[in-house]
Amino acid sequence: MNSFDHFTSAPTHSSSLFLSFEGIEGSGKSTQIELVEQYFKDKNYQVLKLREPGGTSFGEKLREAILHSETPLSSLAEAHLFAASRAQLLKEKILPALAQENTIVIVDRYIDSSMAYQGVARGLGSEVIAEIHRHSPLNYMPQMTFYLYIDLETSHQRQQARGNTKDYFEKENHSFYQHLIEGYDHCASVFPTRIKKIDATQSVEQVNQAILKELPHPWN
Ligand code: TYD
Repeated sequence: MNSFDHFTSAPTHSSSLFLSFEGIEGSGKSTQIELVEQYFKDKNYQVLKLREPGGTSFGEKLREAILHSETPLSSLAEAHLFAASRAQLLKEKILPALAQENTIVIVDRYIDSSMAYQGVARGLGSEVIAEIHRHSPLNYMPQMTFYLYIDLETSHQRQQARGNTKDYFEKENHSFYQHLIEGYDHCASVFPTRIKKIDATQSVEQVNQAILKELPHPWN
């Protein structure tokens, strides 16, 4: 049994779907998530849009604690805090919603973020992240994950154009971001069926079309 074999698709009603979006800063996740949300609303699905870390009142407290930490956190502490927020989100929101019919749950970041950020960029190892997610419900995966791929230069330019104040991870340097990209590529090789890698340097419309084309039947 390899380190990733315990992961399995989350239980869902047959008419419902669990999707996640991944990518480094500037990849355009929020815009694409809104477009996919609208696509499903137009088809009369119930859509639950969530973000990680956060999405529950406990998770939002953890989000604040991590992203506005005044001191550098231990990588293992980070990994466990993200996992704690995720477990609560699964229990309170994701699993109850997926049990309903005609429901689409869309999460902005999920386990692959922990694999890329804490596992690879922080150097804990993706096997350690997999181990933290060994037990139910943390071993539940989305049916499909869209990894919006952009190169380092595009990420840098988009972040500069935004000009927002930087949070905990956005302060990291180029080599951290390079490792993140390697981390996501590693995830895509470990989970080739679930993860769809989309070229997010294209226009908003082109990226949206590429995503919709990948949606599984009968949701496409
Ligand atoms: P957020 O402001 O939501 O970033 P973004 O808009 O890029 O999604 O902040 C979440 C940050 O937390 C982001 O930098 C990625 C990081 N993160 C991890 O390091 N590990 C995780 O498991 C998750 C879910 C997020």
